Amino acid sequence: MITGKFPALRLRRNRKTDWSRRLIEENNLTPNDFILPIFLIDGKNKKQSIKSMPGVYRYTIDKLNNIVDRAIKKGIPMIALFPYTEKRKKNDLGTEALNENNLVCRALQRIKNKYKNEIGIMCDVALDPYTLHGHDGLLQNKYVLNDETIKILLDQSLLQAQMGCDVLAPSDMMDGRIGEIRKYLDKHNFKMTQILSYAVKYASSFYGPFRDAVGSKNLLKGNKKNYQMDYRNSDEALREVALDIKEGADMVMVKPGLPYLDIIKKVKENFKIPVMAYQVSGEYSLLEYGIKNDLTDRNIILENLISFKRAGANAIVSYYADRLDQIIK
Ligand code: PBG
Repeated sequence: MITGKFPALRLRRNRKTDWSRRLIEENNLTPNDFILPIFLIDGKNKKQSIKSMPGVYRYTIDKLNNIVDRAIKKGIPMIALFPYTEKRKKNDLGTEALNENNLVCRALQRIKNKYKNEIGIMCDVALDPYTLHGHDGLLQNKYVLNDETIKILLDQSLLQAQMGCDVLAPSDMMDGRIGEIRKYLDKHNFKMTQILSYAVKYASSFYGPFRDAVGSKNLLKGNKKNYQMDYRNSDEALREVALDIKEGADMVMVKPGLPYLDIIKKVKENFKIPVMAYQVSGEYSLLEYGIKNDLTDRNIILENLISFKRAGANAIVSYYADRLDQIIK
């Protein structure tokens, strides 16, 4: 690889000027690299702050136009909807997931009707926003049941597809759900609904602020280690991805992001498939609480996000997605 040596070879030559640095840049961020998460709440005309995530809000459905307009104007290809479900609507089975008038379904219809295919809409497939115990599936003796949970996820998937969801994102980590969901969608003629599998989702402490944002934090009993991955493992991540691709995933997600750049890189190198990375709530909060409003330090955010691209991510789910231009400035 080395083609010369000092003094003939000087790597600093290419770095001397701004134009030259721009000319040789290997990675960059564009709006196309982002997915914008949006938190939903019931009610009217509300924009509610989230204590653990300064700068991020929950919105009522009537407020969505502003956010979606802005996302489209900025060129963001896709949004992701997450509901804050009121406790009285939760139960142990998470049946609110199958209510065609739930928050996500109403938001889907509203956005799809107005914006058609101007922007993609992604929805989680999992029961945690709807269960009283805060787990992603059905709970029996502290264990999340696999096959029984999948049965409900199938109907949640189909319902969301019917309401206008473009990309279903199973984030539940049940074994075999991608294949079952693909079959079920096809059978009901949703052959073109895409599946973005949260194939590599670690049982992480970085999800705390998100659970606060969707109202499951104080409800969650125990932890999610019997279904989400152990963060001591990386070979296992490749097995998860291999299976999900075989079962029909169109794209895969690695989550969290920054502490798992090695995994993003491995997945990208081993499988030629679009790889998304999720800069999760805890990563966001760490940055926000750490750098406050010091503008020079906001470059830390950029440095963070570029590392995802360098590792091989095609796009990043980020709570900064719609503020990137302010950050770069
Ligand atoms: C739900 C889900 C979680 C996140 C996205 N979908 C939390 C969890 O699994 O407990 C976390 C996102 C974030 O922390 O920003 N299955």
